[in-house]
Amino acid sequence: MNKYVISSSILSADFTRLGEQIAEAEAAGVDWLHVDVMDGHFVPNITMGPFIVEWCRKTTKLPLDVHLMIEKPERYIEAFAKAGASGLTVHVETCPDMHNTLKQIKSFGCWAGIVLNPPTPVPELDPFLAEADLVLVMSVNPGYSGQSFMPETIAKVAEVRKKLDAMGSSAWLEVDGGISTETLPRMKEAGATAFVAATAIFKNPDGIATGVKALRDVIARA
Ligand code: DX5
Ligand code: ZN
Repeated sequence: MNKYVISSSILSADFTRLGEQIAEAEAAGVDWLHVDVMDGHFVPNITMGPFIVEWCRKTTKLPLDVHLMIEKPERYIEAFAKAGASGLTVHVETCPDMHNTLKQIKSFGCWAGIVLNPPTPVPELDPFLAEADLVLVMSVNPGYSGQSFMPETIAKVAEVRKKLDAMGSSAWLEVDGGISTETLPRMKEAGATAFVAATAIFKNPDGIATGVKALRDVIARA
């Protein structure tokens, strides 16, 4: 596993050719595949359910990094885990019993991630940081790919990085939303280690491989 990972979000993929697009991203060297699950309640958009994860699992060996932007995510953990998710990330805004939810995720052998939205303050994560295998800081308000990066979230990444280092935690620190060759270096400098990208990969005008290479190059340089 690379020290820094690229998690390609299929939200911007061409779904008429999903298998081919995933194969292209895999061949280009992405580390994980990011699956954005939205329910039309917690976020305005509606996207994919466990069956997409199941098809992704059949078509690729890449770890499946599943981001649950849904209310009451605890109802669906088993379904996503059984569909083949490698990791499940749940929002602090939606989990009244986060300790239990993280425990449930781990009981299926998945890595357990916690995520917070741009307006949610970092201290909301404090009680759960020690149990998290991954901490995701949203750099846009979730709902759609292709949104503009919110620079005010850089300081939140630095704040989480400090806390993880102070605890000696080796959890991934992931960022998601508006990640590009311009914004990635700023998030890396703040301490991020995992970079989600949809538009920068699947909508790159020169193709998926070029998009992945460009991100990999800035990771190496930054
Ligand atoms: C946002 C999703 C993201 C999204 C990122 O609601 O959680 O994963 O797909 O898309 P880009 O990289 O285009 O901002
Ligand atoms: Zn996401």
